[in-house]
Amino acid sequence: MHYRRIVIFGGAGFVGSSYAIWLASRHQGLSITAADNLKRRGSELNLPRLRAHGIDFVHADIRNPEDLRLDERRPDLIIDCSAEPSVLAGYGSGSEYVVRTNLGGTGNCLELARRCGSAFLFLSTSRVYPVALLNRIAVTETATRFEIDAAQEIPGVSREGVSEAFPLDGARSLYGATKLASELLLFEYADMYGLPMVINRCGVIAGPWQMGKVDQGVGALWVAAHRFGKPLSYIGWGGEGKQVRDVLFIDDLCELLDLELARMDEVAGSIFNAGGGPQASASLLEMTRLCEMITGVKITMAQSLENRPGDVRIYITDNSRVDAVLGWQPRTPVEKTLTAIDTWLREHPSIASLWT
Ligand SMILES: NC(=O)c1ccc[n+]([C@@H]2O[C@H](COP(=O)([O-])OP(=O)(O)OC[C@H]3O[C@@H](n4cnc5c(N)ncnc54)[C@H](O)[C@@H]3O)[C@@H](O)[C@H]2O)c1
Repeated sequence: MHYRRIVIFGGAGFVGSSYAIWLASRHQGLSITAADNLKRRGSELNLPRLRAHGIDFVHADIRNPEDLRLDERRPDLIIDCSAEPSVLAGYGSGSEYVVRTNLGGTGNCLELARRCGSAFLFLSTSRVYPVALLNRIAVTETATRFEIDAAQEIPGVSREGVSEAFPLDGARSLYGATKLASELLLFEYADMYGLPMVINRCGVIAGPWQMGKVDQGVGALWVAAHRFGKPLSYIGWGGEGKQVRDVLFIDDLCELLDLELARMDEVAGSIFNAGGGPQASASLLEMTRLCEMITGVKITMAQSLENRPGDVRIYITDNSRVDAVLGWQPRTPVEKTLTAIDTWLREHPSIASLWT
């Protein structure tokens, strides 16, 4: 491991805490700081785990440059996992929090990186791709899901999923827009200040310690609702739960981040689409069936015909570029990811209060 002093923003969140603990468990002598404002309900539950792994926690709000005066820690690597991560952010409530966190906050993290000469890993999103265009992907409807057709008019999409060549013109939600704007900032810092950086545009990520809610974290939400007997809804797209996502298991993502760090000299300046891919995709209906099998619980499933704003019918990641460059492929099927979440819930009954 080339990097020794690592600051992870959003370090108490799902991805940030998971990767912090992954690194601390595999490398001796790292100094890891997890910085977070604990905005997300449930992130505070990660603090004892961070402590148990020798990871220093700092309460910091990335909107506030004063909170990011972490120069004395001399980070040689900054990982930005902090975000308001919901596609629904801003609808009906104004843009201030999402813009100031996801864009202004990234700018503040980049300033820290510039001052300290740190490398930078950025967790971006598949939601940088425009909503209307994603919903123009030609699909076929089967008994349990939508499937991407082989023939497509839009470039950058195939049966393998959505690649980095997918067009970027159009609206994409404030969440997606602030992430894309942050990506642009990263390129300017790379060009102007020589910042080594990698951008990962992830689809749905899932695994234990994800405090999944209706707004974000569908894998944990689906398993928890089954485990604790809470109702769920199929929202939009005909109300039958045929909308599809690919699901990236958190450990597969951690392996990818490891590869990027190990080969930063080669991959600096890259954008990678990274997700579960076609093999690890499921419709909500298929996820329900898997959850019923894993938990043995059948719950009430409501139907809502109206599409949610910003929602897409199908998103599957084409991992061809990241596979060609880094030889990385996701390995975990959806069933195994959901089973890992269920095991976590059963082993940590105190966490149930988040969903009950
Ligand atoms: N989980 C997914 O499915 C997914 C998919 C694609 C991209 N991503 C991206 O990965 C990153 C990590 O997401 P996650 O799933 O861990 O989300 P998360 O909500 O679990 O973690 C984000 C953390 O950021 C913190 N935070 C929010 N506002 C902050 C602020 N102003 N200052 C400091 N901390 C703040 C929250 O308290 C939370 O702990 C995000 O950038 C997200 O956009 C996630």
